[in-house]
Amino acid sequence: MYKKFSVLLNKRIKKFNTTISPPGDKSISNRFFFVASQAMGISEARGILDAEDVLNNIKIFQKLGVKIIKKKNIYYVYGNGLGSLIVKDNLKIYAGNAGTVARCVMGLLAPYPKKMRIFGDESLSRRDFYRCIEPLEKLGCSFYPKGRTTLPLTMTGSNWLAPLNKYQLTYPSAQVKTCCIFASLLSPGISTIKEPNHLASRTHTEILLNYVKASLKVKKFKKFNLLKINGLKNYKAFKLNVPGDVSAAAFFIALSLLTKNSKIKIKDVNLNPFRTGFIKIIKLMQGKVFIKNKKIVCGEHKGDIIVKGSNLKSVNCPSSISAKMIDEYPIAMICAAKAKGVSNFYGLEELNKKESKRLNVCNEILNKIGVKTKLGKDKIKIYGNPNLKLDESYIINTYNDHRIAKMAFVAGQAFIDKGNMLIKNFENVNTSFPNFLKIMKKLNCKYEVKKNK
Ligand code: S3P
Repeated sequence: MYKKFSVLLNKRIKKFNTTISPPGDKSISNRFFFVASQAMGISEARGILDAEDVLNNIKIFQKLGVKIIKKKNIYYVYGNGLGSLIVKDNLKIYAGNAGTVARCVMGLLAPYPKKMRIFGDESLSRRDFYRCIEPLEKLGCSFYPKGRTTLPLTMTGSNWLAPLNKYQLTYPSAQVKTCCIFASLLSPGISTIKEPNHLASRTHTEILLNYVKASLKVKKFKKFNLLKINGLKNYKAFKLNVPGDVSAAAFFIALSLLTKNSKIKIKDVNLNPFRTGFIKIIKLMQGKVFIKNKKIVCGEHKGDIIVKGSNLKSVNCPSSISAKMIDEYPIAMICAAKAKGVSNFYGLEELNKKESKRLNVCNEILNKIGVKTKLGKDKIKIYGNPNLKLDESYIINTYNDHRIAKMAFVAGQAFIDKGNMLIKNFENVNTSFPNFLKIMKKLNCKYEVKKNK
C-alpha cells in the first residue's frame, strides 16, 4: 500500500518536443503471468509493467505455488503445466484494485474443489462479479454467500468441470472472455464460446494463447466469433516481449494535442486493433496523430505514435467503438472539452462499472472546471470551448481511480491560467503507472506533491 498524497498544479505546461517510452502494457503483463503459470517449463518476459495491479497478480501465483523471479528486468515464471497450481483449503486470494486479476484468476481456479476466498480493495469490492459467477457456475463451480455478486466471495471449484457448450458472452468484457477461456483450457473435452460482434473485446488472451500454440482456435462468422478450446492440452514455456501500454500513452497523446506547438514521439506502443479506438476518435477530431514503424511482435501489433499540438473539432463517438476505447473515455472527454463544437459519446454503460463510477465522475470534474455537459444514463454531451482556461482554485476528488487522477492532471496542465488545481489521492496512479509523474517531469511539467499528514 502506498502513502496517500495529493498533487498541486498551478502552472500550465509550456510547449515541448520530446520522445518517451510508456510502461509495459497492463493487460499483456497480467496475461503473461496467467498463461506462463500454466505452461510447461520456464517462461520469460521483458517489458513487464511494474505496477501494483501486476505485483498483486504475481503474489497470487506465488501463493499458488508458482516460482516467479525477476533478474535484470526479466521475469521468469516456472510453470508446471495446466492445473498444476497448489491450492490449499481456505486459501485467501487478494487482487487489490485489479478487476482483470480477480476475474481472470477465477477461471484458472475453476478445477480446484477447495474453498478459496477472493477479495480486493474498496473499489474492487463494489464491482460486479455476476458476469464471472454465471459461466463458472455452469461449469460446476460454486460461490458463497449465494446470491452475492460482489467481492469478497468464497469460490469452490470442481474437479469434474463440464465444458462450456456454445456459451454466449453477454458483456463486452475481455476479462469475462478470458475467465471463460482459462476455465475451458482446464476442462476436459471441447469448449465453445460465442462472442457476438457487438460485444467483441480486446484479443490479447487469444493472441497470446495462439503465440504459445495452446489449443485455442477462433473462427469468424458473420455475426460472431466462435472460440473453440480443446481442454487439458499442455503447451510449452515461451518468451514474450511486452509492448508499451496505449492506455498509458493516451494521457501523453492528449497533453500533446492540447499544448500548442508541441510534439511528442511515443515509442513501442501496443496497437492491438481493440485498443486503438481513442486514436481513431482523435483523428476524427482532426488531431495530428501519426503511426510509424509498425511491426508485429509476439503476435501483437505495435508502433511509434507521433502527436502534434492541434486545434481539435468536436466528435460523435458511436457506441460501436466503446470496447476499443473503454479505458480512454476520461481523457477523450478532456480533449472534447477543448474542442470546437459539441461532442457526443454514446454506449457508455460499462463506464460506471469501472474502478469508480467513471461516467458520473468525469461529468462532475468537467462541470467543476467550467465545461457544460448533458449527462444521460449511458451517454454524455460535452459543449467544447477552445478558449477553456482555469482561473480559480479547484479541488479534484479522484474517487480512488487512477485514470481519473491522470485525466485531471492533464486537464490542469493543459488549461490552467491564473488558477490552481489540487488533485487528491494521487497515489492510486501506482496501480497502473508508477512512473507517470517522472515522465511528466521529462515534459517539464511543474507540480507539487503534497503528502497527507
Ligand atoms: C482489461 C479489460 C477491460 C479494461 C481493463 C483491462 C483486460 O475491462 O477496462 O482495464 O486486461 O482484460 P473489461 O474487459 O471488463 O471491459
